[in-house]
Amino acid sequence: MNKRYVIGNWKMHGSLAMVDAFSRALAYAPSPDVVAAIAPPHPYLGACSDLPHGCGLAGQDCSAHDNGAHTGEVSASMLIEWGCGWVILGHSERRTDLAESDQLIAAKLATASSAGLIPVLCVGESLAVRDAGREETVVREQLRAVLSEQSPASLLVAYEPIWAIGTGVTASPEQANAMHAVIRDELTALTEDGASVPLLYGGSVNPDNARGLFDCPHVDGALVGGASLDATSFSKIVEAAQASLEK
Ligand code: PGA
Repeated sequence: MNKRYVIGNWKMHGSLAMVDAFSRALAYAPSPDVVAAIAPPHPYLGACSDLPHGCGLAGQDCSAHDNGAHTGEVSASMLIEWGCGWVILGHSERRTDLAESDQLIAAKLATASSAGLIPVLCVGESLAVRDAGREETVVREQLRAVLSEQSPASLLVAYEPIWAIGTGVTASPEQANAMHAVIRDELTALTEDGASVPLLYGGSVNPDNARGLFDCPHVDGALVGGASLDATSFSKIVEAAQASLEK
């Protein structure tokens, strides 16, 4: 795939002052082959609407409902109105903290796609599962539970091993590449367009390890948490994505 994706997931971090500082410090040269986007907390989407260098916007989640009496929820069409092109779904923090089920994630995926958002579906195993040697089985099951032949053609999948999220322990390029090959295999079997779904790696990606990950044949980009809060490190990761395409 001759395109790269770098999506920053700010989680529940940030402030209006931080958005302003981030916007002024963002410093990468835009490239048509690298999609860069930020998923700020929903209240800051408006403040992020003018990020420089064509930096796009993503939602961190959306409702499974189109609209209605669902206090606290944000709909896919609202995210689109605020300029989002993508929405992160099934992040392990939501699966754990909010007990989101595969069934709910599948419903959100269908709603988001029909509204016109590109879902970024997160999958990934816990440390206990990896220690037991069951990571491949678990990730295949997570994909099968949410995707089917009816799944949208426009989709991104992010492999985020839970043991690598926010821990400073990144999967090695070999580990990421091997799991991405498994995901590609499963996606190709499950969905019509599975061969062309971009596969992002997430879990302690930073400017020092990004290039090694982007150089892997099965890695098409990154979902970046902590390192996306700093505009300089986010910019360096975008530049690493560009450099990996130019090699
Ligand atoms: P991290 O988070 O980069 O801080 O590990 C990644 C994610 O949860 O998307």
